[in-house]
Amino acid sequence: MSFSTVRFDVDDQGIGLITISRPEKLNALNATVLDELDECFSAANETDDIRGVIVTGEGPKAFVAGADIQEFADLNPEDAEDMARRGQSVFQRIEDMLIPVIAAVNGFALGGGCELAISCHMRIASDNAAFAQPEVNLGLIPGYGGTQRLPRLIGRGNATEMLLTGDMIDASRAYEIGLVNKVVALDELLESSKTLMTTIISRAPVAISLVLEAIRASYLPPDEGLRREATLFGQACETEDFKEGVSAFLEKRPATFQGR
Ligand code: COA
Repeated sequence: MSFSTVRFDVDDQGIGLITISRPEKLNALNATVLDELDECFSAANETDDIRGVIVTGEGPKAFVAGADIQEFADLNPEDAEDMARRGQSVFQRIEDMLIPVIAAVNGFALGGGCELAISCHMRIASDNAAFAQPEVNLGLIPGYGGTQRLPRLIGRGNATEMLLTGDMIDASRAYEIGLVNKVVALDELLESSKTLMTTIISRAPVAISLVLEAIRASYLPPDEGLRREATLFGQACETEDFKEGVSAFLEKRPATFQGR
C-alpha cells in the first residue's frame, strides 16, 4: 500500500509499523492522515498475517502535534462536528482492534496526538515525549475522544487537570499518572515497542484477541459521550474565542480571549 502522509511496513514477524509522516508540520493530523490511518488499520484488521500494530511519528520531535490547525480556519459548527465524528470513528476503530496496538510516542503528543495515543491499547514513550490536551488555548475542546478516554485511563482528577489547563506534562509525569506504560531513550523506542509486541504475539493468538474483546466489553459503550463531545466541539467552533485562538496560533502570537 502506498500513502502520502503515512508509511505502513510489516516485518517478518507480522508486526505492522505505521509511521505518520508530515515532519515539517510535526505530523499534525489533517483529513488525509486520518483517512490513511483508517485505511491502514482496516487493512491490518483484514489481514491474518498482521499480528500487532505499532504507531509512531516521523522524526525525533513529534509523535503528532495535534489536529491540523490550518484546517480549523473557516470551520463552521456543522463541519466541526463532522470533523470530530470522523476523528472519533477512526480512533474508535483503533481502540476496537482485536490485535494489539502500541503507540510508540516519540515526542510531542498534543491534542489529537494525545487522543491518538490513548486510543491505542498501550503506550511506550521516549524520554523527550510531552503530552497535553491544549485545545482550551484555542477556544476549543478535544474532539477525538479525549474527554471520554483520558478520565478512563488516568482518572478524573488528573484528566480534568490536563483538559482544563492544557499544560504539557513530560514523559516521567505521564508514567507517574499511568498515561504511559514505560519510558525509554528515544533511540530505544521502536526496539522496546517491538520487544513488548513480540512477547504479546508469542502468546496464544485467539486468547489475545479474546482478552482485547473482553477489555473492550468492560467499558460502557462510549457512544453517547462521544456524540456529546462532537456536539460540544461544534459549539466551541461558534465562539469568537475559537476564531481568536486559531488566528493567534497561525499568526504566532498569544491569544486574547473575550469569553464569548
Ligand atoms: N497544526 C498545524 N500545524 C502545526 C501544528 C498543528 N497542530 N503543530 C505544529 N504545526 C506546524 C507549525 O505551524 C510550524 O509550521 P511552519 O514551520 O510552517 O510555521 C511547524 O509545525 C513547526 O512547529 P513550530 O511551532 O515552529 O515548532 P516549535 O518547536 O516552536 O513548537 C509546538 C512546537 C508543538 C509547541 C507548537 O508547534 C504547538 O504549540 N503546536 C500546536 C499544538 C496544539 O495546539 N495542538 C492541538 C491542536 S487541537
